[in-house]
Amino acid sequence: MKGIILAGGYGSRLYPITLGTSKQLLPVYDKPMIYYPLSMLMFAGIREILLISTPEDLPNYRRLFGEGKDLGLSFQYLEQPNPGGLAEAFIYGKEFIQNSPVCLILGDNIFFGTGLPDKLNRAARIADGAVIFAYPVRDPERYGVVEFDENYCVVSLEEKPKKPRSNYAVPGIYFYDNQVCEVAKSITRSHRGELEITDLNNEYRKMGKLHVEVLGRGVAWLDAGTPESLLQASSFVQAVEERQGLMIACVEEIAYRMGFIDKIQLRKLANKISGNHYGAYLKEVINENEQR
Ligand code: G1P
Repeated sequence: MKGIILAGGYGSRLYPITLGTSKQLLPVYDKPMIYYPLSMLMFAGIREILLISTPEDLPNYRRLFGEGKDLGLSFQYLEQPNPGGLAEAFIYGKEFIQNSPVCLILGDNIFFGTGLPDKLNRAARIADGAVIFAYPVRDPERYGVVEFDENYCVVSLEEKPKKPRSNYAVPGIYFYDNQVCEVAKSITRSHRGELEITDLNNEYRKMGKLHVEVLGRGVAWLDAGTPESLLQASSFVQAVEERQGLMIACVEEIAYRMGFIDKIQLRKLANKISGNHYGAYLKEVINENEQR
């Protein structure tokens, strides 16, 4: 399976912070926001990644990740001149995707919780259809909303409904089979002129090929698109990391534990980040004897 990270958009809810930089490069406590969604792809075992962003911001992502080799990954980059909806990723990204199944993750979605890597791994094995998730929130009207019947079969999917039929929002991580580019081509633009991911998911639903998995209480799903939520996400990560002495979304550590890189490569990465707590943490990982 291949992965696409969408890191475009204007980030207007964060103006003036995002007037000079890309939202997904802003810090969430001790690392760039994009490390969090990237770590999800890595946990799913995905190593070929396409990063889509604006022409202005793309050079900064290249500076951060290069070809991805240091992390045992392969990165490609693609410009999206005008944001035209999430499902456009499958139109622009067709050449990258080719005949592979693909996972799309939004660059400002942060997930944390037990069992997540297993869930992602399972979703990444999809050969036919799509897997999306549902997460209970207090303000579903801000998201794609999924309604279930009593057997947890999907009854409806709506994008930012004024009157949500449930409190289950659809988080910004989606797994699709290799039909996705064709399906994306078949949908039309919404009233706001966008190719909506919810319309794409509805197509899969109509084909009887949409699997929705509920993420329960043990999982945190945060978005970091407003000043308040950005601060909350940072505080959350800080609280967990300080308490446990373990990092969330430390992509260098994950690359090592997933077997994408070896100890020698991890040491090289640690040496680049020496002199602060992040580098010291990587050294601890290198020196540990026991499995955490
Ligand atoms: C997008 C999707 C929405 C989804 C949300 C998750 O909304 O359109 O269905 O629930 O991401 O973050 P946006 O954040 O672009 O408003």
